[in-house]
Amino acid sequence: MILVTGATGFIGSNLLCHLAEKNIYPVALYRSDTKKNSIQSIFESKFSDGKSQFEKIVWRKGDLTDFPSLEEAFQGIIKVYHCAALISFSHSKIKKLIEINEQGTSYIVNLCLSHKVKKLIYVSSIAALGKEETSADVDEETPWINNAEKTPYAYSKYGAETEVWRAGQEGLEFCIVNPGVILGKGSPANFILNKIRKGFRFYTPGNSGYVHVSDVISVMSQLMESDINGERFILVAENWTNKSLYQFLLRKNKKNETVYLIPKFTFYFIWIVEHFLELIFFRKRKLTRALIKDMYEQKNIKGDKIKTKLDFAYTPIEEVL
Ligand SMILES: NC(=O)c1ccc[n+]([C@@H]2O[C@H](COP(=O)([O-])OP(=O)(O)OC[C@H]3O[C@@H](n4cnc5c(N)ncnc54)[C@H](OP(=O)(O)O)[C@@H]3O)[C@@H](O)[C@H]2O)c1
Repeated sequence: MILVTGATGFIGSNLLCHLAEKNIYPVALYRSDTKKNSIQSIFESKFSDGKSQFEKIVWRKGDLTDFPSLEEAFQGIIKVYHCAALISFSHSKIKKLIEINEQGTSYIVNLCLSHKVKKLIYVSSIAALGKEETSADVDEETPWINNAEKTPYAYSKYGAETEVWRAGQEGLEFCIVNPGVILGKGSPANFILNKIRKGFRFYTPGNSGYVHVSDVISVMSQLMESDINGERFILVAENWTNKSLYQFLLRKNKKNETVYLIPKFTFYFIWIVEHFLELIFFRKRKLTRALIKDMYEQKNIKGDKIKTKLDFAYTPIEEVL
């Protein structure tokens, strides 16, 4: 049996649909019945026999912070897609991020080892990649520099990857994918994209890498079936500056294309105010200097390695947007 963690999330639910199309019905890890029921609605809207397809999935309740619940979920499992994680860029979530993403992944890989799982596909992120001060280029080999400023999310995903590499040393077959911002129906990124579509036009000068969810799922499923072992793959179809993304979306939605740069000091001002509020009122701060740096930094994230290993081409981002 295959286990999908994070089955009620954006990637996990797309993976369930992809597997169902291939008549594969995995064990799906979930936390709440409400979320589980929302996946039934997705199945019903996607497949004519959605309800019966959904019922073939074996739902097991489990939490990444609760080892015994994961141990039960692992009964009879031979392959694992680990998609569950907490996504947050807030400083206030630092403890939860480490607990769910890093420690949770250590539980998953330890269970993979003890249950002699044949292969693990771990969904990491471009946030877990290194970045050298002297170059904008980022690829799978770019070294992670510990003293460089990184968001708590980045540390938690990097820590999770370290656990996967450690389990690899102990005999677990695995591949890691590092997707950029994943686009598609149900994407968490749609919140900001929809705001821009409606006319929001204040941007920061940084950029990001983008990829369509169907490409991510296709690569994950091909990697699972391949002999490729012990490698990580960046999944980025194209790098877009925030400015070009805003202008493209505004143009497509027949809005005025004029966009306004937010000066960096605006965020530093908020950062200082949050520090004071934390000191005086113990109100947990959200913004980090690392996030501000990210929003103003230009990177060239290279997603080509995967094309040398699989018969695969990225969906153009203009088509997706
Ligand atoms: N979305 C992107 O653009 C993007 C880009 C790069 C990498 N990623 C990575 O892709 C993976 C999936 O992201 P997503 O977009 O699908 O996120 P998502 O929609 O927020 O889904 C996260 C999933 O993880 C589950 N989860 C969270 N905390 C958990 C816990 N303590 N125990 C068990 N399950 C827990 C959630 O369960 P509930 O439904 O119960 O909350 C949900 O099913 C993550 O590892 C993320 O880091 C995402």
